[in-house]
Amino acid sequence: LSLAIVLDILSSSHYIDVTLPSGSLSSFLLTMKVHLIFLFLPYLVLSLPIRTTPKPQQERKLPEAIIIGVKKAGTRALLEFLRLNPHVKAPGPEVHFFDNNFEKGLDWYRSQMPESVEGDITIEKSPSYFISKTAPSRIKEINPKMKLIVVLRDPVTRAISDYTQASSKRRLGQMPSFERMAVGDCAPWSKVNCSVKTRGVNSGWGAVRIGQYHKYLQRWLKEFPLDQFHFVDGQKLIDEPAEEVKKVEEFLGLKPVVTPADFEVDSVKKFPCIKNPDGTHHCLGKTKGRPHPKVAETVLKRLKRFYEPENDRLFSMIHQNFQWN
Ligand code: A3P
Repeated sequence: LSLAIVLDILSSSHYIDVTLPSGSLSSFLLTMKVHLIFLFLPYLVLSLPIRTTPKPQQERKLPEAIIIGVKKAGTRALLEFLRLNPHVKAPGPEVHFFDNNFEKGLDWYRSQMPESVEGDITIEKSPSYFISKTAPSRIKEINPKMKLIVVLRDPVTRAISDYTQASSKRRLGQMPSFERMAVGDCAPWSKVNCSVKTRGVNSGWGAVRIGQYHKYLQRWLKEFPLDQFHFVDGQKLIDEPAEEVKKVEEFLGLKPVVTPADFEVDSVKKFPCIKNPDGTHHCLGKTKGRPHPKVAETVLKRLKRFYEPENDRLFSMIHQNFQWN
């Protein structure tokens, strides 16, 4: 462009005072000018200051909400489904800051979080917080306004799921049957004292103990008011995922964007998977939605009876009912 201007000045004959055959220099300069302008046009366009909205500031924020549990109730499914909302930012792996990694400090905790912009909500999920003695007070210390999400599931089904996971980690035949663990003499290597039973059930066995939800929730309610909790129905999360996710989006103060069109039931596992825009599916990994062993009816009934008063305590504690009893 500068060259074109120079040529323009030259052609005005202040600097070139040569008599040439009629108009030959001026028409040459004009052609040159036109060529040069076209030659430099892309550069000119690209170098123009482009008016764009300033890029939002990216930062790693501490979580404003945590999925605190309950293990084997559908916590991974909830997190994956919530991430369909572009304003939900969450680390993939469980962070376990408030139970196992607290000594690593807040800077480490923050470094585990993904980058987010204003209007996003950072969340994490570590289901073992629910049964942790230290997590409630530590979380309160860091953020007394923390939103706490608890996925709950029929404690009998949850116990079988827990057992299925534990057996998958042992060699075939090493794990006693679910019945023996839940109501029998347990395993010789088990730490559980199976001689002490509550209403005929090994209530000290981890898989059964965790299902006494009210006992753990009591600790949390000493630190946080009930309105800071949101309870997700783990069974509805399987049957009507969009409905359950919408309630969580609202609890987080987000405009709900997740709809039934985002899901499709996997024909083999019979669990909902995420439908991608390109038509592919994203199902949870093979450790989720495992087939459960068939449990004797008498044992199921005994467990159901055992949990009834425990569930009632939970329901009156949270002013909410689940169809488990
Ligand atoms: P099972 O594998 O025993 O069926 P968590 O993620 O809290 O550990 O919970 C695991 C459970 O989530 C699974 O237990 C499964 O029942 C349940 N779940 C809920 N929605 C699911 C989904 N869409 N895909 C797979 N499992 C899902």
